[in-house]
Amino acid sequence: MILQGKRILLIISGGIAAYKSLDLIRRLRERGASVRPVMTAGAQAFVTPLAVGALAADKVFTELFSREDEQDVGHIRLARDCDLILIAPATADLMAKMANGHADDLASTILLATDRPVLIAPAMNPKMWTHPATRRNHATLFSDGIHFVGPASGEMAESGEKGEGRMAEPLDIVAAVEALLDTGDKPLAGKKAIVTSGPTHEPIDPVRYIANRSSGKQGHAIATELARLGAAVTLVSGPVTIPDPKGVKTIHVERAEEMRDAVLANLPADIAVMVAAVADWRVASAAGNKIKKQPGEAPPPLILAENPDILKTIGHHAKRPKLVVGFAAETQNVAENGRSKLERKGADYIIANDVSPETGIMGGDRNRVKIIGKAGDEDWPDMDKQAVAEKIARLIASHFA
Ligand code: C5P
Repeated sequence: MILQGKRILLIISGGIAAYKSLDLIRRLRERGASVRPVMTAGAQAFVTPLAVGALAADKVFTELFSREDEQDVGHIRLARDCDLILIAPATADLMAKMANGHADDLASTILLATDRPVLIAPAMNPKMWTHPATRRNHATLFSDGIHFVGPASGEMAESGEKGEGRMAEPLDIVAAVEALLDTGDKPLAGKKAIVTSGPTHEPIDPVRYIANRSSGKQGHAIATELARLGAAVTLVSGPVTIPDPKGVKTIHVERAEEMRDAVLANLPADIAVMVAAVADWRVASAAGNKIKKQPGEAPPPLILAENPDILKTIGHHAKRPKLVVGFAAETQNVAENGRSKLERKGADYIIANDVSPETGIMGGDRNRVKIIGKAGDEDWPDMDKQAVAEKIARLIASHFA
């Protein structure tokens, strides 16, 4: 129980998502945390301090210049006497104030005075979230070390508009709080993990190659999370533009055959998570020199050869890791294709996702996956790739408990 005895200062600002904060308070308290609420004036237009105080079983703080509160607790103590400050929902306005160091009400003053970690769950109209001003504020807060959870995409409560801006669900916020406050929990200590990530580049000639749209975000996030749970992680990454994760040994490769060699060279391992979008085919014999366009000649044919299937090789290997996890990027029949892959490749889990262009998953920051295991399927809601990674790492850890 990571949250047992933890003190959370919850700032509720003024958005319709404030109604979800009531549930959030319950979820945090269920896990043993105490919640001290601060509400902005805007928040009180959406939910009452009475309801918030009743669920939190604590006094609700609303005023900066309250003689009583200042004598009693004081805004500096509110800012410091907690393990984490959580803002849910965080409006565009509160983000702007934080980014610029304003301190003109109790919430913004606490946020300027605190030395505690701050996690914010933004909630706003999608146009406000994508507005250049909010983008700037988000970048500033991010570089100030503020942590974010969400927003999720979906339908807006008030306008029915679709897009990114919905507050993350209370349980996702709880998971983000737990991740930030998690210190000693290392269920994968002493375990070795190999993760593949990113695309592969299969050369046609020295300057051209066959590739795919994989960004490596999901695989890199999984490597990070496994390391956070204590595993010694080797990440075999295809060509990506994102940085090497911290606390992980990263090996850079280009081609599928190089990726396979790197993976096999790192056996034995306890865990293999094959996330890379490995090209199924390579060019049978890549040209040693640049293929020249010849006037009047037909385009050269590309003769392909099948690449090694790294997941399948690992899944049936004499040194098979105890837990083998594969991914299945599909554009149709996600569940059926995933289940047949589980059998064929000798995996314990297949994490299937729909990568049709309209989902925006390939290359994007969010993912919606179906976990296909020997015991059955489980659908996880849409969340960011970091949250998916956290849950996958926890699922893996549960097998070593
Ligand atoms: O067959 P498909 O490519 O859809 O399988 C996806 C899963 O298999 C992923 O886990 C991917 O990393 C892995 N794979 C692999 N080597 C290949 C092709 C896929 O490891 N050549």
